[in-house]
Amino acid sequence: MCGIVGYIGPNQAAPFLIEGLTKLEYRGYDSAGIAVFDGEKINVEKSVGRLGALTQIIEQKQPQGCLGIGHTRWATHGRPSDANSHPHTDCTGKFVVVHNGIIENYMTLKEKLIAKGHIFKSETDTEVVAHLFEESYEGDFEAAVKKVLAQIEGSYALVFMTQLEPDKIICTKQDNPLVIGLGQGENFIASDIPAIINRTRKTYILSDGEMAIVTKDSVWVQNRQGVPVTKKVFEVNWDAEAAEKGGYEHFMIKEIYEQPKAIRETLTGRFNKDDSAVVFETLKWTKEELLKIKKIAIVACGTAYHAGIVGKYYLENLARIPVEVDVASEFRYRSPLIDEETLTIVVSQSGETLDTLAGLKEAKRLGSKTLAVTNVVGSSIAREADQVIYTWAGPEIAVASTKAYTTQLIVMFLFGLYMAGIREMLPKERIKELIAGARNLPAQAHELLENVDPIKTFAQKYGFNEDVFFIGRALDYCVALEGSLKLKEISYIHAEAYAAGELKHGTLALIIEGVPVIALATQEDVYEKTLSNIKEVKARDAVVIGIALEGDDQIDKYVDHAIHIPRADKYLAPILAVIPLQLLAYYAAKTRGCDVDKPRNLAKSVTVE
Ligand code: F6R
Repeated sequence: MCGIVGYIGPNQAAPFLIEGLTKLEYRGYDSAGIAVFDGEKINVEKSVGRLGALTQIIEQKQPQGCLGIGHTRWATHGRPSDANSHPHTDCTGKFVVVHNGIIENYMTLKEKLIAKGHIFKSETDTEVVAHLFEESYEGDFEAAVKKVLAQIEGSYALVFMTQLEPDKIICTKQDNPLVIGLGQGENFIASDIPAIINRTRKTYILSDGEMAIVTKDSVWVQNRQGVPVTKKVFEVNWDAEAAEKGGYEHFMIKEIYEQPKAIRETLTGRFNKDDSAVVFETLKWTKEELLKIKKIAIVACGTAYHAGIVGKYYLENLARIPVEVDVASEFRYRSPLIDEETLTIVVSQSGETLDTLAGLKEAKRLGSKTLAVTNVVGSSIAREADQVIYTWAGPEIAVASTKAYTTQLIVMFLFGLYMAGIREMLPKERIKELIAGARNLPAQAHELLENVDPIKTFAQKYGFNEDVFFIGRALDYCVALEGSLKLKEISYIHAEAYAAGELKHGTLALIIEGVPVIALATQEDVYEKTLSNIKEVKARDAVVIGIALEGDDQIDKYVDHAIHIPRADKYLAPILAVIPLQLLAYYAAKTRGCDVDKPRNLAKSVTVE
């Protein structure tokens, strides 16, 4: 996720660009830059670090000009640095772009452009767009952009400008947001409404495949086929704070709804051409080195630890390699048996959690290979680990982790499949089947999020209970752990997760009339056994909410309420099953009037022991 802005009109561009980027900093904040046309040439200023670093440069240099574009970055391809910051330019500096998204085929395009003599200054996927723009320009800005779009694959919101035609900006989008703010004799472009809300409330919201030619007096929109599109003006009536949350009441619910996109981005570029193998471009270990790994240790805290537990299932079941999972604050105090034949995977959204970082250092000291799974490029954990796989969830602002968890599961699943391929533990057909299943996940998550009313109703009904139990077996148990953490951390309801088969060894004593039990039953291998456990709690008059696969009518006979999730392979079901639990926690917290985004006593990043 990154933030982009653009301005064309009679006024100085830089003040709006900086103001707009400030409002978009929640979308990314590891570097920023602007490009302004001064009447003769385009001047680009950019800086690594928070927006403040760029603002200082702009205050000193005072770039003059009434046409400009800007960007605040959340790194994906290439670490945060001045060179990797946007805007990106071609070889001549006459063609400039800012981009939010991922150009999937950038490596192939880059090789071709280098062969033609183009010189690249950054490690980003975006820079290919600037060079393609230069390559495609033959005196017609619009035609050049169309040629560029015909060559790139992936997700994008793109804004183009060139000093050769400084009377317009061209912008387009595919899978990433872009809005145009309609002013009087001036127009604004931004990733999101907060950036323009102080200037205008009249907007066009671009749809996928649409391209807009924006001058100071007009906005002309066409679709991918070049057919003109008549846009309806969307009048924004949110206040500035609501606008930052995209119209949602809290960041947490916004981030829950961002999961289809976050999952899709995390899957992007991670399969070979015929979808028969997982590829990790950034992993530099050879097959021989990976085959020497005899054991995997996973180290993490909180929600990331829960993702690690799912990771153990994936790696042991798919790749048949032994895995230990540790809470990071325990790991280094228990003399772990780690050596050079161990791979230690640390999982951390922020990449800054002190215990996880310390666990990583301990594993390195013991000679282990180390791999970080993190959401923040250039974070301490990303820098310290030998190799990194990023979750591309975009910045997570709410304290309760949601989209980071589902994308961590995606990475653990992909890494399990990758290791299964290396160790030749799964037939190609099964790998293909699982990859096809993974590709369905964004649409399935979207479908789930379309029908939340029953979950709202349960949350309102049971939100005032003081104890809630979560049960499940196998991967359902792992998801139960996360569901219970979500509920307790934001609603302050006492919640416990149990392996369903373990209930009768003590916990069943706590199940009395009216106690809500959330029973996950998505794992076909243990389905009948889970049903028996559901019957056990029903016999004690618990109120049972079952989470089951679509088409499972049997469950409805045994539970008080059933939530059906789209049918998915047993390995992929957890990624969907957690979504109703996140929603349940969210609506329960709302029902109880809790501060959802900032739960008491908790911080987003825990950098103390
Ligand atoms: C719970 C939550 C925390 C974090 C934990 C680790 O919703 O967000 O449990 O998962 O503090 O944080 P990271 O992943 O940043 O290392």
